[in-house]
Amino acid sequence: MQEDNSKGWIYSAVIDSDEAKLAQEAADRAADLPPSEIDIDTMKITQRWELYTEENHEVWGYLFSKRMEQLSEYGSNVFLEGARIINLNDRQVPKLSEVNANLNRYTGWSSHGVPGYLPAKSFFAFLAQRQFPTTITVRPKERMDYLPEPDIIHDVFGHVPLHADPVFAEFLQTYGKAALHTNDPVHIERLARLFWFTVEFGLIHEDNKIKLYGSGLISSEGEGHHALESKDVDRRPFEMERVCDTAFEIDHYQPILYVLDSFEQLRDAMVSYAERILNEPATAPTA
Ligand SMILES: [Fe+2]
Repeated sequence: MQEDNSKGWIYSAVIDSDEAKLAQEAADRAADLPPSEIDIDTMKITQRWELYTEENHEVWGYLFSKRMEQLSEYGSNVFLEGARIINLNDRQVPKLSEVNANLNRYTGWSSHGVPGYLPAKSFFAFLAQRQFPTTITVRPKERMDYLPEPDIIHDVFGHVPLHADPVFAEFLQTYGKAALHTNDPVHIERLARLFWFTVEFGLIHEDNKIKLYGSGLISSEGEGHHALESKDVDRRPFEMERVCDTAFEIDHYQPILYVLDSFEQLRDAMVSYAERILNEPATAPTA
C-alpha cells in the first residue's frame, strides 16, 4: 500500500476511517473560517484504545524507557513532574481519558485525538481553548528511531506532560489566542519560529544544568543527545525578539537552540507579545 504521511490514520486499526475522514474534512474546511466559527469538536476522533496491538504497547514501552534514561537527569523537572501527574509509564500506550482526568485537576488542559495534520488556524483554535490535538497512532517497530510525522509518542509523551504545569499552560493558551487572532504574515512567521524554538525544541536552565523540554528533543533519542552534547549547537539565551527573528531549518539536527531561564520568562514574554497582537484589529486572511 502506498504511504501517505498526511493521512496516517488510514493505516491504523485504532482509528475509525469514516470518523477520521469526516474529522479531517471538517478541519480542512475550518482553514477558511473566521475564528468564531471554528468548531474544534468536529475535528476530534475517538481513541479506540482496546485496538492497540501488543506491538504498539511494546514500541511505546521501549521508547518510554529508553528516553527516560536521559530524561530522568536531563529532562526538565516540569516535564518529569507532568509525566508523573498524567501517569505515563512503560506498561501501555496512555488512554487519553485518563490523561485528561489527571490534567484537569491541575490546569484544565485536555488532549484529543485528531486524524492527522490540522490547518494552522484549527490547531490554534484548540490551543486557545486549552485543548491539544494529538495524533493517536504508534510508529511501527521498524521505524522506532525516526518518524518524520508526529505520532502519540511525539504528541503525548513529548508535548502533553508540560500541560500539567500552570505557567506553561498559560503560555500555550496565550500563544493559541494570539496565533488564532492574527492574519498578519509577519506575526505568523514570528509565532511559528517561537513555537519551533520553545514548544518543539526548547532548552531550559535548571539545577545548574541545561535540560530538555521541547517535544522534538523529549521524544527523539538522537535529537535529545545532539541538543545537549554536540559542539556544533549554538545554545543561546532565550530572548523573545531574537527567537522570533531566527529562521529555522527542518529535516536535520538543530544547529541553533534557545535556553530559557524559567517558564515564567516564556509566559511573561508571550503575554506581552499577545497583548500587542490582540490589540491590533484582525485583518482578513490573505489568500
Ligand atoms: Fe510537536
